[in-house]
Amino acid sequence: PHVSMVISAPDFETVAKAVLPHKAWIYASSSANTGLSLRTNLDSWPRIQLRPRVLRDVADVDTRRTILGHSSQYPFYLSPMGTLGVIHPEAEPEMVRGAVRKGAHMVVSTASTKSTEQIMQSYLDEQKRLGNASPSKLFFQFYMPVDKKKGLALLGIAKRAGYKGLWITVDTPVLGKRSADRLQQAEEALAVGMEDSTAEWEAGGENAFAPAMGGRVATGQLSPHTTWEDLAWLRKEWNGPIVLKGIQSAEDAKLAMEYECQGILLSNHGGRQQHSAPSALMTLLEIRTYYPEVMGKLEIFLDGGLRDGADVLKALCLGATAVGVGRPYLYALAAYGVQGIERCTDILSEELAIGMRLLGVTSLDQLRPEMVNATSLLNE
Ligand code: FNR
Repeated sequence: PHVSMVISAPDFETVAKAVLPHKAWIYASSSANTGLSLRTNLDSWPRIQLRPRVLRDVADVDTRRTILGHSSQYPFYLSPMGTLGVIHPEAEPEMVRGAVRKGAHMVVSTASTKSTEQIMQSYLDEQKRLGNASPSKLFFQFYMPVDKKKGLALLGIAKRAGYKGLWITVDTPVLGKRSADRLQQAEEALAVGMEDSTAEWEAGGENAFAPAMGGRVATGQLSPHTTWEDLAWLRKEWNGPIVLKGIQSAEDAKLAMEYECQGILLSNHGGRQQHSAPSALMTLLEIRTYYPEVMGKLEIFLDGGLRDGADVLKALCLGATAVGVGRPYLYALAAYGVQGIERCTDILSEELAIGMRLLGVTSLDQLRPEMVNATSLLNE
């Protein structure tokens, strides 16, 4: 269908499934174990409701939000996703162009198909084309490699290239059990007369396709030796803000505050890591209950299952700075390239603006916890 027929962000999934090669579709859509964590994410947002307020002047609304010191047109950003070369021939640069055109921020994955420098170059080129008018910024998602020297080199590259913040993914000391990938690989192995496909799914982490992508091998997961103590030297090497991506408990949120991170991303990796993990929303509610002091101290981000502008509003009412959107953008890229990225952004942005007006607010700083009814989750 023509891109104008995509009305809601989840619609991109159907188109992507139809156009993607089977293996790429499995990579993108798969989740851990039985898919429970993925379903938990998707089911969490519809379980709380907004409390609309009426008879206020809502003619003009402003959806801008400052994320780690950088103003964005939106309180959402493009989540880091590895190996986009199997999703679209232009890979990460194509996604970056869409983000720049729309003034959205994007977090770029360590496990990208194109190099860290190439991706930044595509950003700079697109900015130049637009007269450097876009507020869009690129941040860098970091998987700490086992070899510290390699880690230092990678940080140096990202720093020199001009990435604005470091998002350290901490929920991946081992790759989750990606059931659909394993089945696909077992089928593939059997087809060529091999009975054991174990080696392949143990190989590349979030960058399992690396060998097929022109030989560029980037780390696709976090070194399992990494601990809180490593944050000290990482901070010395990186002078910008640090966000921990993949916090799934109130206790770790408090630790992140004590270790003086600038932000935390409550996330279960799109349901791809821990089986039976909490949704980001559930973790946020627990932080608010047990360690409310964290809320004012850190920038709080959430991702997982956000599919509508109204979902974004719910997260912001409860104190989130901004939220990440993953698969909708990936499916949009698969289906329509840069046009899909632009369309997905427009859809979420319009829903957000409609939602703000119906909620009776004109700027995001007016959002309050009282504007959502989360009792159905709190009473469990
Ligand atoms: C991811 N995610 C991810 N996260 C990360 O830190 N580094 C990575 O390389 C990847 N790669 C990746 C690939 C694919 C195909 C998916 C779907 C996800 C996780 C991602 O950043 C984010 O946490 C989730 O995708 C958010 O959930 P939704 O929006 O996809 O439901």
